Amino acid sequence: MDLSNYLKTKRDQINQQLEMCVRDYSIPGRLQDSILYSIEAGGKRLRPILLLATAEAFGASEGKGMSVAAALEMVHTYSLIHDDLPAMDDDDLRRGLPTNHKRFDEATAILAGDALLTLSSQVIAEDTTLTDAQRVTMIRELTKAGGARGMVEGQMQDMLSEGKAVSLDVLENIHKNKTGQLLKFAILAGAHLGEASDSAVQQMTDMAEALGLIFQIQDDILDVTGDADVIGKPTGSDEGNHKSTYPQLLGLEGAIEQKEKYVHVALSALKSAGVEGTVLSQLIRYLSTRDH
Ligand code: IPE
Ligand code: IPE
Ligand code: MG
Ligand code: MG
Ligand code: MG
Repeated sequence: MDLSNYLKTKRDQINQQLEMCVRDYSIPGRLQDSILYSIEAGGKRLRPILLLATAEAFGASEGKGMSVAAALEMVHTYSLIHDDLPAMDDDDLRRGLPTNHKRFDEATAILAGDALLTLSSQVIAEDTTLTDAQRVTMIRELTKAGGARGMVEGQMQDMLSEGKAVSLDVLENIHKNKTGQLLKFAILAGAHLGEASDSAVQQMTDMAEALGLIFQIQDDILDVTGDADVIGKPTGSDEGNHKSTYPQLLGLEGAIEQKEKYVHVALSALKSAGVEGTVLSQLIRYLSTRDH
């Protein structure tokens, strides 16, 4: 199957799962509308796809971990709803549509985010296709990755460094947390569900860390060079908010070079983990060259 068919097939499965989760809980009126608005706005579904692709690469049966994949996308979607709020990046466009607080209002957007975050743990806890131990591990790792020493810490550091000149080390640390942690969870949860060996998990940790940086460097590059109609969010947001980014620190060429360096790291870690012939190699290249 070529990559675009693979992505479409997985995206459809994930979308179905997400919608089923939200509708199953009969969330009342406006809150459900607001949650479904952001969920159904689309999104590339890259994190859940990476989770499922990694699990399959290590031999898990197709669809294993679907609830965890959906939960991960819920955490990601909540983080975007809050990231766009006036108190944070103050953006008006997301996934090609007005941001949640623009379509609804700030209070509703905050609550839709809160609901998605809490629902994420609930759907894993209730998945009886996983063992109790797997459910505890998945919830523990997802909450760690999304929490105060993970994505939330990265967002805090990102906000605190607005308008400041930061070093490459500090910037990399921000990226590792704000974007890297959820991507790393995707890969490591997949490896766990596929029962990868300890040494493969070690290699996949290196792969995931490089992938997180590749992903955020490309996000920063697209904020400068992208087309808002294609990326579905505004360009120039980082500059407007005086954010530290790779292009701002290294120039566009330097940012591209740095990204290529991490592509090599990711591909060679994949090889060491023994899964280089899988769709994961294509996903690494796709993530580094994506135009949206
Ligand atoms: C955007 O993530 C936010 C970052 C972490 C840079 P995505 O580019 O994966 O956004 P969607 O889910 O496709 O909208
Ligand atoms: C935010 O990074 C990543 C999150 C944790 C939500 P950005 O602020 O760069 O994400 P975009 O560019 O708005 O999608
Ligand atoms: Mg932000
Ligand atoms: Mg933002
Ligand atoms: Mg960005």
